[in-house]
Amino acid sequence: MKESTVPNMHKKLTAEYIDSLQSFEIRDSDIFLVTYPKSGTIWTQQIIISICELSGGLNEYPNNYYHMPWLEYTEGQKDYSLRPSPRLFASHLIPTLMPPGLKDKKTKIIYVMRNPKDNIVSYYHFSGDLTDMETPKSFDWFLEEYLKGNVLASSWFDHIREWHSKKDQYNILFLTYEDMILDLKTAVTKICRFLGKNLSEEAIEQVVEKSTFKTMKKDSKANYEFLPKERFRGNFMRKGQIGDWKNIFTVAQSERVDKVLQEKLGDLSLKFIWE
Ligand code: A3P
Repeated sequence: MKESTVPNMHKKLTAEYIDSLQSFEIRDSDIFLVTYPKSGTIWTQQIIISICELSGGLNEYPNNYYHMPWLEYTEGQKDYSLRPSPRLFASHLIPTLMPPGLKDKKTKIIYVMRNPKDNIVSYYHFSGDLTDMETPKSFDWFLEEYLKGNVLASSWFDHIREWHSKKDQYNILFLTYEDMILDLKTAVTKICRFLGKNLSEEAIEQVVEKSTFKTMKKDSKANYEFLPKERFRGNFMRKGQIGDWKNIFTVAQSERVDKVLQEKLGDLSLKFIWE
């Protein structure tokens, strides 16, 4: 694989670059996918890219990372202002760090949230696989770090709160990983409608097929196996299931998360599909 097709995610994240996003020029046609890490980002990335392709968009990129780069990583990006519309971006940032131009309500943002318990398990495995992140001492240790927000991308609870508090200010479609697992076709249809893409029934079925766990695992443009092994020893396409937390959480750990969830987000009128 050519060097330019091998991204070095996370390495190039700098405070100066994040600050510079305050003057990043947004286009109405931009499409943003925002998630807290391990919530189904590369899955939704594949869905959005497939929808854009099947509705006539060109795909001249070597893989999904280059087609929909993370806004906050400078790796791999050249000058985004030279990209043709619609530009696609992924991000794990909170709203205050995002370009202010997103607030004009035209740019489309898709926000995907996942049951924090499954999110924790996915993140726990991922942390052990990334060579420049601290390998968790134990699951219990990682759980406490996560609940304190001492992980990359900071607190899951703050991320959820901040993005949901912007629901009237930004043009956002909120989805959950669980929605997508339970009924991928409905989720794909919702995304199509939100993006204003009028795909035929057959094309929607094609997007669904391209986005199943089984297909994506074999798709070298989508499965992130193109990441350099010296940076990432694991597998982005790990299990792809809901409820894996039950295989690792103790009852006490589960109750601890429920308690923190209630304390931190209990006042929001959020309906969590996994409850
Ligand atoms: P698990 O670790 O629980 O398997 P992100 O892309 O935000 O890093 O999220 C990664 C999680 O999404 C992983 O969860 C991965 O398996 C899951 N995932 C990726 N593609 C998927 C798909 N097509 N269907 C279901 N889950 C998928």
